[in-house]
Amino acid sequence: MILIAMTSLDSDTFIVSPGGRLRGRLRVPGDKSISHRAIMLGALAEGTTTITGFLEGEDSLATLAAFKAMGVQIDGPHRGKVIIQGVGLHGLRQPDHALDLGNSGTSMRLLSGLMAGQAFDVVLTGDASLSSRPMSRVIDPLSSMGAKIKADTDGTAPLHIQGGQSLKAMDYTLPMASAQVKSSVLLAGLYAQGKTCVTEPAPTRDHTERMLSGFGYDVEHNDMTVCVKGGGELTATNIDVPADISSAAFFMVGASIAPGSDVTLEHAGVNPTRSGIIDILRLMGADIELLNEQDVSGEPVADIRVRSSQLHGVDIPSALVPLAIDEFPAIFVAAACADGETHLTGAAELRVKESDRLQVMAEGLTSLGIETQLQHDGISIQGGTLQGGEVDSHGDHRIAMAMAMAGLVAAGPVTVTQCTNVSTSFPDFISLARTAGLGIQA
Ligand code: S3P
Repeated sequence: MILIAMTSLDSDTFIVSPGGRLRGRLRVPGDKSISHRAIMLGALAEGTTTITGFLEGEDSLATLAAFKAMGVQIDGPHRGKVIIQGVGLHGLRQPDHALDLGNSGTSMRLLSGLMAGQAFDVVLTGDASLSSRPMSRVIDPLSSMGAKIKADTDGTAPLHIQGGQSLKAMDYTLPMASAQVKSSVLLAGLYAQGKTCVTEPAPTRDHTERMLSGFGYDVEHNDMTVCVKGGGELTATNIDVPADISSAAFFMVGASIAPGSDVTLEHAGVNPTRSGIIDILRLMGADIELLNEQDVSGEPVADIRVRSSQLHGVDIPSALVPLAIDEFPAIFVAAACADGETHLTGAAELRVKESDRLQVMAEGLTSLGIETQLQHDGISIQGGTLQGGEVDSHGDHRIAMAMAMAGLVAAGPVTVTQCTNVSTSFPDFISLARTAGLGIQA
């Protein structure tokens, strides 16, 4: 009984023993953002798409289950391989139940755009965290295109999307840097009459645009604007999903802060719209090398070698914020171990992730004896000596994994609670972290 609990992610709590270092060559699971999009575009393409390296995490599996429920034949995943018999842009069938997207914001926001263009009605639901996240950011632009979407009064899920609307193209300027909103509008644009254009305030992850091109769909780029015309066709292709740099981030930080560490994170996505973590850690003095750089299925990929080094505090450049948006829990742990103070501003979006990541990380670091100061859109962290203690991750997968890495250098054991959602993005985190040298029990 105890042995099962020690190796299973069903356990709610991580206990990390102090000391240790990270070493070896590791391949973290497939990129979550790319895995979602591969299922969506593969399902809507003409022909058979084979995906390898697919993330078998709860979030991307929720997207996969949604398309199965809409009549798409999908085999797998078997060891990261998924085979999709595409039904074409107009071949989906009405599901006979609400589509439950669990904890996954990407599934809900991207599917909203796609579902707005279907001939049938659909309901999108999620867990308590997803049901409290803002959906007006997609409902507003999609409604301007002619979509009919009903949410709760505060603009949250469940979303009732009424099919059979004829969508018209629009030019939309994003009020915030969000790849989910950009992608949602572009995916609705596939079903709209005319050319739909989205202009971003700052570059965000461009996997949708890259993958649409990979499926043979014309995508127009002009500076900060990206456009698609409705009425085209997607042609099936094969996709090799790189390892997720957002999952690699925990090991990059762990290896940086734990003396004697030397890890290589193999075949990781290093798309410049995702690699802000590398730039920020390097600014802090991290020792990071990119090896074996190549292009895989239209995405830049490399082996990332990280050796330990003494970090120092920095003012995080605002241009890097959207390029590292999911990596801040890990970056905050690096800041807590750095000499001097680190300042982040322009990051209010962190408050509407799987948890309020500014608040929850500030509380967590405070429990471990680190001084922090919260602002509405950022945080200042005074590097210091981490104490052992207990941290509540508030069910946020990335906070759980970041805080586990803090245990490497804490003066006593670090206990992290509410960790089950780690399986949304990184189901084998514990075994990989142990292999690398983290003294973690669950
Ligand atoms: C994602 C975009 C980002 C990111 C999320 C995944 C995507 O969200 O935080 O984890 O796959 O498009 P926002 O669009 O809300 O910034």
